[in-house]
Amino acid sequence: MNILLIGLGGREHALAWAISNSPLLTKLFAAPGNAGIASLAELVDLDASDHGAVIGFCKNNDIGLVVVGPEGPLVDGLVDDLAQAGIKAFGPGKAAAQLEGSKGFTKAVCDEASIPTAAYQRFENAADAKVYIEQQGAPIVVKADGLAAGKGVVVAETVETAMNAVDACFDGKFGSAGAAVVIEEFLTGEEASFFVLSDGDHALPLATAQDHKRAFDGDEGPNTGGMGAYSPAPVMTDTIVEQTMQDIIFPTIKALKDRGTPFKGVLFAGLMITADGPKLIEYNTRFGDPECQVLMMRLKDDIVTLMLASVDGTLDKVSARWRDEAALTVVMAAKGYPGTYDKGTHIAGLEDAAASPHVEIFHAGTREQDGAILANGGRVLNVTTLGTTVEEAQQRAYAAIDKIRWPEGFYRTDIGWRAIATGAK
Ligand code: AMP
Ligand code: GLY
Repeated sequence: MNILLIGLGGREHALAWAISNSPLLTKLFAAPGNAGIASLAELVDLDASDHGAVIGFCKNNDIGLVVVGPEGPLVDGLVDDLAQAGIKAFGPGKAAAQLEGSKGFTKAVCDEASIPTAAYQRFENAADAKVYIEQQGAPIVVKADGLAAGKGVVVAETVETAMNAVDACFDGKFGSAGAAVVIEEFLTGEEASFFVLSDGDHALPLATAQDHKRAFDGDEGPNTGGMGAYSPAPVMTDTIVEQTMQDIIFPTIKALKDRGTPFKGVLFAGLMITADGPKLIEYNTRFGDPECQVLMMRLKDDIVTLMLASVDGTLDKVSARWRDEAALTVVMAAKGYPGTYDKGTHIAGLEDAAASPHVEIFHAGTREQDGAILANGGRVLNVTTLGTTVEEAQQRAYAAIDKIRWPEGFYRTDIGWRAIATGAK
């Protein structure tokens, strides 16, 4: 089967790597891809927002499955339009992708299905939001309602910070994502990422991971898209996973089905494991980046078979098995990220680093020029490893990074610290 992968990040390189190992694959195309994906797929210059062009490409190239990596095209209805044209596409349709596209929508589903989550209110003007913040006090969490690339959330320690966040939201900092604001109760506990596949009816638990959202060591600095991850997450014990399935995942799948907009694809639950059990912080409707990189390292079964089962409604007939080893990924980012940074800087030593055993280097923002690899984004590389313990995986990742020569880049030196501190396997 020919497969078209949409996206250009480290998540998509990891997906391309897993898809390349599928016995079902004939040829892989990626749009637009990056310099790493280019070694596994033919890159095509397709604009994912031009659904007609994507459909035309699929028809001309006998594409049997489209894999949509990022949330943008999902929320934009690409999967619906492909399905209408008779082309199989992995991921939710526009209506079900609202679980990621609108925090207000997810909160409404939580209310309807009694899913444990932070108490909240949604406001369409700053004055009402501020009155509520005064009443509730700090700490409190302020979120732009729509898609804001992970940057629309302020965990405010003081009422003043919360008020400023409300103003920033309504002042247009997040564009249309800031037309409404969700104010939430601050949850305490340990965060974890949990991934499930669904075909609209069934839910197949995949694996757990932990991300590192802050830019700098010690969980300091601004929030980013994610600076590193590992899998599994020790905090997600079998009991907590079971509780999450019963209290959060199954009710969500049922609620979406009952609404007539069944959820198909990857459901990524961002959880806070509180003293009262797991609570939903947010849903994403795609694989996490960089969580996908560690999941693909650990997946033993064929990803394409799993994706097709999600599209075809046969998830009850397949299983997903995982390596016992821990996987860990360290993100190398351009200095300045998540703020402004330079593009076009030169990266050397990648072949040497990738030759280390148990190491895969997934590219995120890179491009090739005259045989050289140049940085082309904020998050640029994901140095990803397997180890018998998180600590071993961590050592392997940093040993590989030592071989990469990129003075204009930076990375956290403590990815995996929480698991290592608890002595997790
Ligand atoms: P989100 O984009 O909703 O995942 O939020 C980004 C980050 O903000 C999360 O990963 C948490 O670290 C933090 N956060 C979001 N909501 C809450 C909450 N209700 N309580 C505590 N922290 C939160
Ligand atoms: N790493 C978090 C995300 O992909 O949203």
